[in-house]
Amino acid sequence: MNSYPEYQIYNLDKLTYAGNLENLKDVESKPNYHFIKGDITDKDEMQNIFKSHFFDAVIHLAAESHVDRSISGPDEFVLTNVVGTVNLLNAARTHWAGKMEGKLFYHVSTDEVYGSLGPKGAFTEFTAYDPRSPYSASKASSDHFVRAFHHTYGIPVVLSNCSNNYGSYQFPEKLIPLMIHNIKYEKPLPVYGKGLNVRDWLWVEDHARAIDTIFHKGKQGETYNIGGNNEWTNIDLVRRLCGIMDTKLGREAGTSEKLITYVQDRAGHDMRYAIDASKIKAELGWEPSIEFDKGFETTIDWYLEHSDWLNHVTSGAYLNYYSEQYADR
Ligand code: DAU
Repeated sequence: MNSYPEYQIYNLDKLTYAGNLENLKDVESKPNYHFIKGDITDKDEMQNIFKSHFFDAVIHLAAESHVDRSISGPDEFVLTNVVGTVNLLNAARTHWAGKMEGKLFYHVSTDEVYGSLGPKGAFTEFTAYDPRSPYSASKASSDHFVRAFHHTYGIPVVLSNCSNNYGSYQFPEKLIPLMIHNIKYEKPLPVYGKGLNVRDWLWVEDHARAIDTIFHKGKQGETYNIGGNNEWTNIDLVRRLCGIMDTKLGREAGTSEKLITYVQDRAGHDMRYAIDASKIKAELGWEPSIEFDKGFETTIDWYLEHSDWLNHVTSGAYLNYYSEQYADR
């Protein structure tokens, strides 16, 4: 909103369990920001919204994103991630027909579409798709549809596939905010399996900057991998977090580690993800801006300083915000 005052930005969100308008308080009064409560799985609604708003571009981030939820209920992932994406593509196809010049459909995706790595190597943009969870299968399918609409109907598209994000406002079902919350309240820290799975962690603001860069400078039809070049086994990451939190909470060193509890492994748990982000660096000049130590500590401080936010989210109180804020709309 601040960087592009000349843009009119419409944020479309269904506000399901992880959608939280409290996260948008900083921007909600900006003159170029508009919120639409909408559902991408409703194809008529998407057609109508495109008809009335004349969008020049779409940045498509709407998704069911949590692997564990996809294991207990895959259908929702097919509906939102696959059908929802096709509905958006169809709306763009209808309303951009004959005037594709200057339009862009940017699809934001995940490194999980590439499957799981052994101890060496990294995913490039040429790695064959090999999704292994219902979540990653739904994202892989959506990626294929985006490329298919580009090739078949000429919709100008660009895609990116990113590694694990960490940072403020992350819903505490994901590893890092979940562990911060549990350490704070001295609850067990559930580490899946032996904790040896590896993830490549990227600060969320670096991801946002990559999206901005790709949106403005990316080449149509291309895909860009985004990663932090920052691999951690889960157990090392959780131990590191415990150490930092002990210091910050004034606890004796080693206190929080005692909360680590090894639990049954996630079904089909991908062993390792790592991103080769050399293309986006070479072609668009993007690279992560912050050292992990600094980003990690900033993130921990943010959650400790925003205990109201964390409590609201974990208690479900944030769900009332929409009805309070938008009661008469
Ligand atoms: O790689 C990008 C992906 O990263 C995104 O596309 C997904 O939307 C996002 O959820 C994330 O997927 P992960 O499954 O890697 O993230 P999650 O935070 O759920 O788990 C990170 C690792 O920690 C994973 O190996 C599972 C493990 N884990 C997770 C939780 C929630 C645990 O050991 N215990 C836990 O309680």
